[in-house]
Parts: sequence; structure tokens; C-alpha cells
Amino acid sequence: MAVKISTISTLIVFLALLSLGHFSHGELRLGSYSETCPNVEEIVFGVVEKAFSTNSRLAPLMIRLYFHDCFSNGCDASLLLDSTTSPNEKTAGPNLSVDGYALIDAVKDELENKCEGVVSCADTIALVTRDLAHLASGKKARYEIPTGRFDGRESLASSVDLPGTQMSVSDTFEMFKKRKLNLTDMVLLLGGHTIGVTHCSLIMDRLYKFNNTQNPDPAMDRNLVKELRRKCPENSEQNRAINLDQNVSSSNIVDASFYKQIKSRRGILQIDDQLAKDEMTKQIVTDLAEGNDFLARFGQAMVKLGSYGVKDQDTGEIRTSCRSCNDFCTA
Ligand code: HEM
Ligand SMILES: *[C@@H]1O[C@H](CO)[C@@H](O)[C@H](O)[C@H]1NC(C)=O
Ligand SMILES: *[C@@H]1O[C@H](CO)[C@@H](O)[C@H](O)[C@H]1NC(C)=O
Ligand SMILES: *[C@@H]1O[C@H](CO)[C@@H](O)[C@H](O)[C@H]1NC(C)=O
Ligand SMILES: *[C@@H]1O[C@H](CO)[C@@H](O)[C@H](O)[C@H]1NC(C)=O
Repeated sequence: MAVKISTISTLIVFLALLSLGHFSHGELRLGSYSETCPNVEEIVFGVVEKAFSTNSRLAPLMIRLYFHDCFSNGCDASLLLDSTTSPNEKTAGPNLSVDGYALIDAVKDELENKCEGVVSCADTIALVTRDLAHLASGKKARYEIPTGRFDGRESLASSVDLPGTQMSVSDTFEMFKKRKLNLTDMVLLLGGHTIGVTHCSLIMDRLYKFNNTQNPDPAMDRNLVKELRRKCPENSEQNRAINLDQNVSSSNIVDASFYKQIKSRRGILQIDDQLAKDEMTKQIVTDLAEGNDFLARFGQAMVKLGSYGVKDQDTGEIRTSCRSCNDFCTA
């Protein structure tokens, strides 16, 4: 009998905790909109697929935007807020381009038409990013992404805390650890550099005057240095775009070739080549370059990143417009 009572009271406590979690902690779960906006995934994909068909640049733009939003004060769409006062995350962060913000606005408008006041901007970013990664992989990758994020009410320039390209692997890892991401997650997420571009201005030091010398970065393949010096001459006015994945047949495709490239010292950013060189990460890079599970694992790492710093209904809101808070907020 005693056993029975304690089992029942454990069950009651468990159920109480469960409902508490449900009502006040905004736990992420698959299908969180199944009652309130059952077609949310179809609505989002419809707008995204159309936009991607005329502008495939949206995929790298949005994958980077998702990373920056999540790293700066959590995945709460605070990066989307237009500044009303002092510099905020949007004005302080690297310019993520009007196209990315316009796509989010278009998707959000459609969601408001079909399910008014229901789907958060933070979930919109997560779903749009997932769909773009899917499309940019040639539909080979598709991960399920849990929802239930609320939108943050604060966006401060001082919350922008992003790794720099010249940081060491271990210093970079410290920043990922703070966001509850482990070393493998970090290597997987840097696989985001399998698509998109950087610009000459950000790699000039590697090509000409690395680390206060008159030489290029010894970690970069000699032939690649030559090639990039042609594309990025010194004292040039134009700041050309350079593919982060130097495999010409897959520069715009989400796949594992980035890891093969960095193993051949053909990474573009210093941190990319360091990833393949550093004792801490080189085995993980080799496994990803040689394995065939990058797409599935990248998805899981994106899901994990997407759970960082999530707001609930006490600490956040469901914005009507992704560019401004419903009532007062610090942006
Ligand atoms: C860990 C340190 C990281 C550093 C230092 C870094 C740095 C950079 C830099 C400097 C650029 C080029 C920007 C430009 O020239 O306009 C870039 C582009 C990009 N990054 Fe990262 N990044 C990091 C991690 C990540 C992660 C975790 C993701 C996503 C999961 C990501 C996704 C991207 C994408 C997709 C682009 C291309 C953007 C475009 O084509 O417009 N990065 N990154
Ligand atoms: C940054 O974004 C603004 C629009 O928000 C655009 O007008 C400007 O050209 C962009 N700057 C750069 C350097 O890309
Ligand atoms: C990193 O996290 C992932 C997913 O949460 C887990 O599967 C993996 O074992 C972890 N790796 C290490 C090295 O801790
Ligand atoms: C840069 O140079 C310093 C000393 O001149 C050296 O200790 C350091 O390892 C170099 N950094 C890289 C990334 O090569
Ligand atoms: C380049 O990409 C193709 C297809 O996307 C892939 O099959 C090949 O292994 C890649 N090669 C290297 C060296 O990265």
C-alpha cells in the first residue's frame, strides 16, 4: 500500500511539473502549432520555395542570420528588430542584407494572414532556415525542427558576441561552450561554410601580410594563395565575393565537400583552415570529410543551436511585425 501511495504521489508531482513546463517554460516541441496553425510548415515552405527559385543567395544569408540571432542573446528574433533608439543587434552586427529580412517579412505576412498572432518570428526564422538548407542541399537534407519559441523584447548592440575569423580553435570553442554546444557541434555548425561567400577585404591579411609578416598564411595551399591573389589584388577598389567552399562543383550546395576542402588547406577563412589543422578538431573534420552522415548531423546541430536562449511567454511575446515589438521593448 505504501508503495502504491508513493507511486501515485510521484505521478501527481510528475504531472504537475509537466503542466508547469507546458504553461510557463515554453518548451520546444515538434508540432507545437498543430492546434493553432496546423499548416504552418506548408505555409512557410510555399513562400520560401518560391523565393529561393529566384534567389538562391537566400540560403547562405539565412543560415548565417540564424547563427547570429541565436548567438546574440538566444534564438529570439531580436536580430530582426529595427533600431528605435541606440545601436541594436541589427545595426551593430555584420550587414546581413535586405534580402534576408525581406524574406522573413514575406513569410510572416503570410502567417499572419492564415493564423493571426500565433507564430513567433523566432520560429519563423528557424523554419525558413531549415527549408532553405533543405533546398540548398538539393533536397537531400531535411531535419525536423521543434517550435515554441517566443520573440525577445530586447535587442542591444552590446549583446552581439560573435567569434572572429582570427580566433584560435580553443577560444572559438569557449564561445560555443557558453551556448551549450560541444566541440563536435561546433565543427558541424562551421559546416555552414559549405555555401555562401566572404569578401576580399576579410582575407587580405591571409594572402599578403599574415600575422605581421610579409608572407601569406602558411596554413593556406600555395596554389589557392596564387589564385586568390589574382581575384583580390592589393590596392583594388572592388571587394569581390569569394566562395567559402572552394569546390567549384558544390560552392552553392549544402554538402560535406567543405571538410574535404579544408583538409586540403583550401579553407578561405583562417578559422576554417585551423579547424582541419588543430589537434582538438582535426579528427572530427576527417570523419566528416570521409563519412556520409554530414547532412543528418548538420541538421541535428542546427536543431541544438536553435534551442539556445529560447524565450517563453513570460520572457517574450509573439510579435505581429518582426521588425518591432508589440508594446515596449529595448531596441
Ligand atoms: C565560428 C566562427 C565563425 C566565424 C568566425 C564566421 C565568420 C564568417 C565570415 C567572416 C563570413 C563572411 C562574411 C562576409 O564576407 O560578408 C561568414 C559567412 C558565412 N557564415 Fe560564418 N562564421 C562562423 C561560424 C558560422 C556558423 C556556425 C554558421 C552557420 C551555421 C555560419 C554560416 C555562414 C554562412 C552561410 C556564410 C555565408 C554568408 C553569405 O554568403 O552571405 N558561420 N562567416
Ligand atoms: C547594408 O544594408 C543596407 C540596408 O539595410 C544597404 O543599404 C547597404 O548597402 C548594406 N551595406 C553593405 C556594405 O552591404
Ligand atoms: C555533443 O553533443 C551531441 C548532441 O547533443 C552528442 O551526440 C555528442 O555525443 C556530443 N559530443 C561530445 C564530444 O560530447
Ligand atoms: C603569429 O606570430 C606569433 C609570433 O610571431 C606566433 O607565436 C603565432 O603562433 C603566430 N600565429 C599564427 C596563427 O601563426
Ligand atoms: C566536390 O563536390 C562534388 C559534388 O558536389 C563531390 O562529389 C566531390 O567529392 C567534391 N570534391 C572535393 C575535393 O571536395
